[in-house]
Amino acid sequence: MIGYAVCASFCTHAASLSALERLIKLGYDIQPIISENAYTTDTRFGRAEELARRMEELCGREIIHTVSAAEPLGPKKPLDALVIAPCTGNTLAKIANGITDTAVTMAAKAHLRRDKTLLIALATNDAMSQNLGNIAKLITRRSVYFVRMKQDDPEAKPHSLVAEMSEIPEALEAAIERRQMRPLFLS
Ligand SMILES: Cc1cc2nc3c(=O)[nH]c(=O)nc-3n(C[C@H](O)[C@H](O)[C@H](O)COP(=O)(O)O)c2cc1C
Repeated sequence: MIGYAVCASFCTHAASLSALERLIKLGYDIQPIISENAYTTDTRFGRAEELARRMEELCGREIIHTVSAAEPLGPKKPLDALVIAPCTGNTLAKIANGITDTAVTMAAKAHLRRDKTLLIALATNDAMSQNLGNIAKLITRRSVYFVRMKQDDPEAKPHSLVAEMSEIPEALEAAIERRQMRPLFLS
């Protein structure tokens, strides 16, 4: 079983859901996970309840949205791989620095303690400023892979990087084989 976790980068939820649909069509059995912020915040990009409902409908499983529900995703209820798509700057920084206070960071911690594959699809405005060091920390870690990413708007958002969500199925296949898709940064 694969874990598919969504964080509160609201503008990328539609692209992430399309990737999730493709994974389901490819036959993956998926446990949906959502951060507390994504689970509770309505924005101009959509309603929180609708996002969770859609993920549950696609995966045919109840969504995990609390630390306590995510805690068994290590030894008790192991995942073959965990995808975080989108991964916010907030969640990236927490995982890189050992902070575990959300359903998604708990899932990552439980999963990584077994050195299993973690695939991160980053979407954040501070990727090349505050979070650059955290990308470096995680990229050199065994078992952690990134979906290829690009500067979505170098003029208006000079520090922003957004993962190519449409490549999630290919990136997951590669990560399971312990391969990082390259080039990591797309132009
Ligand atoms: C409308 C809106 C859009 C946001 N988009 C992003 C984003 O694309 N990337 C990001 O890292 N944070 C974004 N944020 C900030 C996160 O939602 C915030 O850091 C939150 O605490 C992240 O929680 P999580 O990492 O637990 O999901 C956005 C916030 C709002 C209100």
